Order: sequence, then C-alpha cells, then structure tokens
Amino acid sequence: MSSRLYYFVGATSGQWEVTANYSVKGEPLTTPAFINVVAADASPVLPSNDWQLRGIISNERYVEKTQKDRLLAVQQGLGRAEATCAALIPIRKRATWRGLTQSERLAIFEGQSHHNVIGMQYLPAIARRLHHCRDLSEHEPFDFITYFEYAPRYEENFNQLLADLRGTAEWDFVDREVDIRLQRVSS
Ligand code: HEM
Repeated sequence: MSSRLYYFVGATSGQWEVTANYSVKGEPLTTPAFINVVAADASPVLPSNDWQLRGIISNERYVEKTQKDRLLAVQQGLGRAEATCAALIPIRKRATWRGLTQSERLAIFEGQSHHNVIGMQYLPAIARRLHHCRDLSEHEPFDFITYFEYAPRYEENFNQLLADLRGTAEWDFVDREVDIRLQRVSS
C-alpha cells in the first residue's frame, strides 16, 4: 500500500532547489537550500539540516460524488516530466474555522469562496496534493501542507490561482501561510 504520510525536509542537497520563500501571513520559515519530498514508507526520513514538515492524505470533507468524479477525470498526478516547478505552501487556519460546523465551513469553502470551482479552472496544468497535519497531532505548526507541480509556462497561471483564492472569504480564516517555490534539480 502506498504511503499517505509525507515529509517535506529542508536540506543542503536534494530533489528540489528552493527559488523563493516568503511569508504571506504570520511567522516565516527559514530558507533551506533544497527540499526533499519523502513518502514515509519510501526511505528513512533523515534528520533535517533545517526544518521538516509533515502531513497525511486524508478523507475529503467538501466534495460530493459528482465533483469528485469531475476532479478525477481532469486532474493530473504529480511527477510529470514537464512539471519542473513546484510550490510548497503550508497553511494554518484560525481556531474559529474549526469552531464552525461542517455545513458552515462548506458554505464558506464552496458557497461563498468557490474554492473548487476556481481550482478546477487551473486543471490539468496544476497538479496538487493536500496533506492534513492535525490528523497527526494537535501540535503541528500548520494545519495543511499544500503541494503543487506545474510546467514553467504555467507559473503566471499558478500565481493568478493564488491571487483568486487569497481574495476569498475562506482565506479570512488563514492566519499563517508560507509560500515556497521550488525548481526540480535535473538528474
Ligand atoms: C489547483 C487547483 C485546486 C483545486 C482543484 C483545489 C481543490 C480543492 C478541493 C476539492 C478541496 C477540498 C478537499 C476536501 O474535500 O477535503 C481543497 C481543499 C483545500 N485546498 Fe485546494 N484546490 C486547488 C488549489 C489550491 C491552492 C492553490 C491552495 C493554496 C495554496 C489550496 C488550498 C487548499 C486547502 C488549505 C484546503 C483544505 C481546506 C480545509 O479543509 O479547510 N488549494 N482544494
């Protein structure tokens, strides 16, 4: 069975070179030279020279069957040869978000913010994987580790996607967000 648990490890060498790192909101992260994305069952996770984050793929909270089928039909997986750019964007939401009921969160996520509708416009160019951190412990520095891969020609599109989402009501609940851009190291 493939791993659902992933580590994002800051290091002095590795798969992805860090090209930019800035805090969108809240406390920044220091900038490692490289980041390795490691599935927990793929290889032992070496101690980080810098920092490491972790998150686990979890069940979906906000998509129903038809939306899920539409996503599955269009979205592409990670690891495409042409997708030499990546973005690692850890996100934390305010406790007030978790204090809402599921239907209140859904009303903000999709009803007001159209998160999935916006995101769908950027598929299949942008491949993504969402990792949940609070499913691992209450003490993780972020709630979500979002991770994206795309070809260099889609960088502008990706930035537009971020601008669209960051302007939504959902993002009013984000209190920490760090945007780290990566370039694949050629082998
Ligand atoms: C590439 C296009 C995108 C699509 C199609 C997309 C779609 C989705 C969907 C369907 C979910 C709900 C998963 C569930 O049911 O639990 C979700 C959750 C999420 N997405 Fe996106 N998304 C995209 C881009 C982004 C971007 C660029 C960001 C931020 C950098 C982002 C951040 C998140 C976060 C933090 C959640 C979890 C929300 C929560 O559970 O409170 N997404 N996305």
